[in-house]
Amino acid sequence: MEVMRSIADLHDRLGPRPGACVLAPTMGALHEGHAVLIARGAALARERRLAGGCVATIFVNPTQFDDAADFARYPRTLTDDLQLAARAGASAVFVPGVADVYPPDGSVVPPELPPVATRPGLEDACRGGHFAGVCQVVKRLFEMTRPASAVFGEKDWQQLQVVRAMAAMERLGVEVVGVETVREPDGLAMSSRNRFLDGEGRGRALSISMALCEARRGRGACEAEGIMREVLGHAGVEPEYAVVRDAATLGAPGSGPKRALVAARVGAVRLIDNAAWEPAAQGRPT
Ligand code: PAF
Repeated sequence: MEVMRSIADLHDRLGPRPGACVLAPTMGALHEGHAVLIARGAALARERRLAGGCVATIFVNPTQFDDAADFARYPRTLTDDLQLAARAGASAVFVPGVADVYPPDGSVVPPELPPVATRPGLEDACRGGHFAGVCQVVKRLFEMTRPASAVFGEKDWQQLQVVRAMAAMERLGVEVVGVETVREPDGLAMSSRNRFLDGEGRGRALSISMALCEARRGRGACEAEGIMREVLGHAGVEPEYAVVRDAATLGAPGSGPKRALVAARVGAVRLIDNAAWEPAAQGRPT
């Protein structure tokens, strides 16, 4: 597996034509969830016979952190990350510098934000400026790597919808593929932040995936939201939100596919998770 640190090396490897690889963008601190993401990218690249294979990127993007302390303490574990990426099947890892991503001459134009990045009142409301930073870096990573497709984890559900909408609005010509959330055996969604949970917090964090699971007993969105708040409350976890929304727009749920989404702080650690949701059928055993 090749490790590239400059745009020139990247372009040498991928050749002059766009669409030569599948991109798996990450901020490092890789875990088994990322291994599945990269493996899916590698499988897609093989299926489509893309000579560049799956290119993972590792860049801790400063513009998507609303809190400087959070950015500073984001784990940087490059040596382990490269091993995991190789094991998962990445053909190459691109580790750009800040000046590659954000050239000091200001030549990079940030994309327009789609409504799903600003209207739902979920991550957009809890983390001011977060999606502006995500869209800015993703557009730039697309420009640098020019992939045919890019894989994003479903755990960051709103991010996935935002990136998909932004790529369509900006006509970036990249297929955005969602990859299912990978869970610990007890149900906790894998996250780079889980390493900050102490034993007691780890136990309480489990209430998030339990709430999403129990929400399936709800016969309507309001009932499901009440169930989620109750499960979280029993564990002493106060949610920032615990809602059911339209799966694509993240607006009020309608007749299309729906998603239950939770964000909560467990001690100092902010966690998010989500799951497909549909109303429990009347009389269906729960
Ligand atoms: O999901 C992430 O790890 C980041 O938000 C991403 C997509 C790599 C952009 O920095």
